[in-house]
Amino acid sequence: MGIVKVLDHPLIQHKLTFIRDKNTGSKEFRELVEEVALLLTYEITRDLPLEDVEIETPVCKATTKALSGKKIGVIPILRAGLGMVGGILKLIPAAKVGHIGVYRDPETLQPVEYYCKTPTDIAERDLIVVDPMLATGGSANASIKFLKERGAQNIKLMCLIAAPEGIEAVQKAHPDVDIYVAAVDEKLNEHGYIVPGLGDAGDRLFGTK
Ligand code: URA
Repeated sequence: MGIVKVLDHPLIQHKLTFIRDKNTGSKEFRELVEEVALLLTYEITRDLPLEDVEIETPVCKATTKALSGKKIGVIPILRAGLGMVGGILKLIPAAKVGHIGVYRDPETLQPVEYYCKTPTDIAERDLIVVDPMLATGGSANASIKFLKERGAQNIKLMCLIAAPEGIEAVQKAHPDVDIYVAAVDEKLNEHGYIVPGLGDAGDRLFGTK
């Protein structure tokens, strides 16, 4: 079973309060989502391998550590996942970015992929799939499934807020996927919104409500 890591660092919780507040406008909302994504990235990359490198400081020669070239891919789930990419790339600028979009067929209720463009070497990359809201888990599960069908081997899921129902659904469908979140909220309401949540993440990011 994958782990669920709730990053309740004071800075993250503080920023999340303003993200949740309905009076926070799109500009500030976007900035805060990026900042929290950056802080989550700090933790999600904790196990990246290091190697020794020889350098010269102004004082002497030294053997120090550098990332050992692990390849990372960031996969935002369209569209709200886009809001987290900037923050992640600030910490890991060499990561490649793929995009995936899914919708639920209104008749079959099955998830359908409408867009997917990923790095070609997806099988060799550690993938971070990002979506601010893990609600029912439907989009995350479908996106992870489509990525695995393309060869993805190593996937982590990063979200701002999760409902317990979403976490359970992902753990059930993809027990190999670790989940990193800033908060686990109370529940989903009858409209599929996370309670208390933050409303519609995509609308708040892009000002479309
Ligand atoms: N997607 C959102 O943007 N918000 C929710 O509360 C649930 C799903």
